[in-house]
Amino acid sequence: MQKKPNNELNPSNKGKKQKLKKNKNRKLSSTNWIKRQVNDPYVIEANRLGYKSRAAFKLLQIDKKFNFLKPGKIVIDLGCAPGGWLQVAAKKVYSSEKNISVVGVDLLAVSNIYGTKTIVGDINEEDTEKKILNLIDKKPDIILSDMAANTTGHKQTDHLRTTQLTEIALRFAINHLNKGGVFLVKTFRGGSEKTILETMKKNFSYVKNVKPLASRPESVESYTICIDLKL
Ligand SMILES: C[S@@+](CC[C@H](N)C(=O)[O-])C[C@H]1O[C@@H](n2cnc3c(N)ncnc32)[C@H](O)[C@@H]1O
Repeated sequence: MQKKPNNELNPSNKGKKQKLKKNKNRKLSSTNWIKRQVNDPYVIEANRLGYKSRAAFKLLQIDKKFNFLKPGKIVIDLGCAPGGWLQVAAKKVYSSEKNISVVGVDLLAVSNIYGTKTIVGDINEEDTEKKILNLIDKKPDIILSDMAANTTGHKQTDHLRTTQLTEIALRFAINHLNKGGVFLVKTFRGGSEKTILETMKKNFSYVKNVKPLASRPESVESYTICIDLKL
């Protein structure tokens, strides 16, 4: 049976450190990544509760603050793999297999998640936009984007690529959201986000940056929530 996700982080998982077995062939960066994963309380809790990713806690924490994922809302999730946000959204808006109101798209395939439908596609392609919109018969009330490009290691290139995804998601939200709709997007500190913020403020009544506790403090990642699309 599928584990039912719950939204509480079990504090007893904090501070329990696990040791890694030595492996001479493993690169130092991989060892550090694995160490961080196995000792991360959000990873441990996501596994315990059946969430597909630790990212689920980021959405839960943002929603706790802004309370926008309400029953009956229609949600599009851009960059939805492996599916933690889909699970949270489906539960919060009461999406069911009979009446699916949460849909998503990603470059990678997502395994079946109750109350959701997903497609594989690149959001840069016009065809993908059409396909995702065809999965729902009404305009979406909420558009989420946790999209992130694969990093190259070159700081400026990485920043440009991720900022471009934020811009694409913003344009998609402005063009397709229902009046009064909500847009939540991953944003990055690093320089070129000023114009993005201006466009957000022009199109939404309320715009706020938010860094949930589950987002690693050392990461340049942050989120921006835009509430009430003006039409
Ligand atoms: C941080 S993960 C999303 C995690 C997800 N929110 C969850 O809860 O499991 C970012 C995702 O963005 C996707 N992505 C990056 N560029 C994309 C694009 N051009 N079109 C669609 N998805 C994209 C990646 O494939 C990756 O799965």
